[in-house]
Amino acid sequence: MIVVQERLQEAFQQFGWSRIPEILHTHAEEAAKHNSSYLEFLDKLLQEEIVAKRERFVRMKTRMAHLPYHKTLDQFDFSFQPSIEERRIRDLATLRFVEHQENLIFLGPPGVGKTHLAVALALEAIKQRYTVYFTTAHVLVQMLQQAHHSNTVAQKMKALTKPNLLIIDEIGYRRMDDTAAHFFFQIVAERYETGSIILTSNKSYGSWGEIFGDSVLATAILDRLLHHSSTINIKGESYRIKEKKKAGFFRPESEEEKGQKME
Ligand SMILES: Nc1ncnc2c1ncn2[C@@H]1O[C@H](COP(=O)(O)OP(=O)(O)O)[C@@H](O)[C@H]1O
Ligand SMILES: [Mg+2]
Repeated sequence: MIVVQERLQEAFQQFGWSRIPEILHTHAEEAAKHNSSYLEFLDKLLQEEIVAKRERFVRMKTRMAHLPYHKTLDQFDFSFQPSIEERRIRDLATLRFVEHQENLIFLGPPGVGKTHLAVALALEAIKQRYTVYFTTAHVLVQMLQQAHHSNTVAQKMKALTKPNLLIIDEIGYRRMDDTAAHFFFQIVAERYETGSIILTSNKSYGSWGEIFGDSVLATAILDRLLHHSSTINIKGESYRIKEKKKAGFFRPESEEEKGQKME
């Protein structure tokens, strides 16, 4: 019996099965108790291993995507942000836009849910076995500038072109210098019609010339970015501020003002 067990453990290890060894004994006892057939028993074990394997895969891909937090579409309160049409977001969650290498841009002021929605779509994409990479515009530019100094831009570019979905968060919070803007152009050009980008920005397209410090370059970027794309314009109040209000931070306004005047 011990020999059989050892041989089984070895086989599980070779197959890379980690769930079956955990549940084998309880399932065997259950099967004996309920007079299950050998086939039913085997089927149950394998189904559990498949589910566990899928979960492991999703966990690994989620780690590799570098998401800033884990938030799903179901955690998004659409009633709080009526400028967002829920049906449109649910439609985007089918990931047809990723399949067709189209882009998606979320525009709006801070705290309205741009990153949350980008992350939620990223999680859906991972579940559907697309590869995802999340970064902010600032980190992206830093990464490429470092690569520029170490002569590894081509390598970095490849890593940024490869994922099915690249998310570039927070465009527009900082101006880009010349090199940064050109790197940005290069990414958009490389991914044009070959991979999807989700962008988020607090600036409307009209001010993108300022972000890139060059209106000609901004036009070239927007031209490629928007050719096959959807834009979701979010107008409304910041969810963060709503939560603060709920917690009472903003309520005693007059008291706060009084306090400030006294200081
Ligand atoms: N409509 C919403 N329902 C639930 N949580 C929300 C909603 N909008 C924003 N949040 C939450 O508020 C915080 C700020 O949202 P975020 O998406 O990061 O804002 P931004 O638009 O600045 O990227 C996050 O924790 C996010 O999960
Ligand atoms: Mg954000």
